[in-house]
Amino acid sequence: MNVSGQHYRTIWLDGESHEEVRIIDQRFLPHRFEVETLACVDDVATAILDMHVRGAGLIGATAGFGMYIAALQADRHSDQAFMESLRAAGEKLKATRPTAVNLAWAVDRQLAAIAAVEGIESKISTAKKTARTIADEDADFCRRIGRHGVHLIEEISRRKSGRVVNILTHCNAGWLAFVDYGSATAPIYEAFDRGINIHVWVDETRPRNQGAGLTAWELGEQGVPHTVIVDNAGGHLMQHEMVDMVITGTDRTTVTGDVANKIGTYLKALAARDNGIPFYVALPSSTFDWEMEDGVREIPIENRGEEEVKFIQGLESGEIKTVLLTPDKSPAANYAFDVTPSRLVTGLITERGICSASRDGVLELYPERNSS
Ligand code: MRU
Repeated sequence: MNVSGQHYRTIWLDGESHEEVRIIDQRFLPHRFEVETLACVDDVATAILDMHVRGAGLIGATAGFGMYIAALQADRHSDQAFMESLRAAGEKLKATRPTAVNLAWAVDRQLAAIAAVEGIESKISTAKKTARTIADEDADFCRRIGRHGVHLIEEISRRKSGRVVNILTHCNAGWLAFVDYGSATAPIYEAFDRGINIHVWVDETRPRNQGAGLTAWELGEQGVPHTVIVDNAGGHLMQHEMVDMVITGTDRTTVTGDVANKIGTYLKALAARDNGIPFYVALPSSTFDWEMEDGVREIPIENRGEEEVKFIQGLESGEIKTVLLTPDKSPAANYAFDVTPSRLVTGLITERGICSASRDGVLELYPERNSS
């Protein structure tokens, strides 16, 4: 997508022989646009853990490139030593963030692809190719999510005789959370490009404010009308017919349709249900967990440091500053995600189409996953 009119992806290979991994360092957005080079596996692990990159799709793509860096720097004494270094790198990356399933998915996909070829040079070129494929697929799947999801917005626009369609989103499931396009935002960008009259309510998304800082920034760069709201405003807007639909992303969705997403998503789904507003979740298939059945019981919820709740970052006199919000001694809890049960989800928007949030719906789109 565009930054000051120039096209960017969130992660790419650069340098003379395309061996350097570059990312947009999201910690400083929307105030400063910075590109960072990830030079070793530790850099990649830090970038994921400390959220220089974040969002399920991008975490997966970064892990894919991380495994390529691991292959470039692995022990070359033998194929076995090489594979052992790679497996250790994979474990290090997987340990960074537990909720987004794309992370383990990308590491395991790389390990399987690399193990399947003989010889260290072939293994390295396979790691590079697989990293690029994961990233390209992520962008392509998000673009397709846009093509499917736009029909839902078109339908509401028709029903409202072209009056503005108000869409509420939570956190950042935009292009910054993927390689390009985004999941929840892909139908929004597609609708905007088709000239549909839309407006987006952007939840600020405490504690790290991915909505206020990232979603608002990227919608602004594309010229999409939007308004930032505090996290607790959504229910009020829904009661007053100021929201036509909700679209969020997800970090892990069970095969039964339970959705883990940024903390606070569940409350939006409850309010949407109480007000008869459709609640859609957009995801590429890399975000399905094909093993898990019960999201509330089984999906691991990341518990992050209390400083993200106690402090807040902003711009003052042109400088990015961090200030204390709470009494210094008050403890804080920082559950990063929650689970919205499938019964509250109107539908899932995937790269293959839209389905109900149920095992039958999901497996109808992905019949190859039907093991019974
Ligand atoms: O903690 P984050 O910023 O990585 O969380 C991101 C979200 O919760 C997004 O909504 C989610 O990843 C879905 S879109 C990839």
